[in-house]
Amino acid sequence: MTQPSPSRSAALQGPPPDCRLCPRLVDFRNENKVKFPTWHNGAVPPFGPADATLLIVGLAPGLRGANRTGRPFTGDYAGELLYPSLIKFGLAKGVFGAEADDGLTLVGCRITNAVRCVPPENKPTPLEQKTCRGFLAAEIAALPALRGILALGSIAHTAVLSTLGLRKVLYPFKHGAVYSFEDKLNKPLTLTDSYHCSRYNLNTGVLNEAMFHLALKSAITATRPAS
Ligand code: URA
Repeated sequence: MTQPSPSRSAALQGPPPDCRLCPRLVDFRNENKVKFPTWHNGAVPPFGPADATLLIVGLAPGLRGANRTGRPFTGDYAGELLYPSLIKFGLAKGVFGAEADDGLTLVGCRITNAVRCVPPENKPTPLEQKTCRGFLAAEIAALPALRGILALGSIAHTAVLSTLGLRKVLYPFKHGAVYSFEDKLNKPLTLTDSYHCSRYNLNTGVLNEAMFHLALKSAITATRPAS
């Protein structure tokens, strides 16, 4: 593959680790740098190849997960279902070791977050969600092979719709829903919804492995041209 241009590389990389756009998140990062000096403690870059056909969008880095390891969904409960599921469906190769250096690679898929810096109590404010949206828009535009997006939870769903200029009333969040539309360049794109694979959702039965696998399968199918 040819190297992406510098502006495309930047779009694929997301904000710099020391992004200062959201004052509350910068303050939280600085507190965490003092408490946990060996952790990543910065905006977490997306993970996966630039030729991905499927983009998985999460909420935001978990404090002890992605904010510690520097890789989305790595090191906390939410990754324990996501990564083995990606391996099962051929979207990841290797062994998931819950650390950024476990050697796992993604195949045709990429994982990113609606908000790139860890928020206190896992709750980004509406303004923080809006402020971070430009990075998702740039990433989507920088993925020429992209055909489908899997939104994990309603915040990711809303971020994708806003990024694409689509109205939420026309595309309500619903686990298992698959929506088809065109992106800003008139390219066909699908959005599949799943409940977030958080510890809370899994422990309360809002989501289980079978439900997650069904949504993931739908998202994968939706990236393939109809035969
Ligand atoms: N880790 C992430 O990177 N994103 C989430 O949404 C949850 C955990």
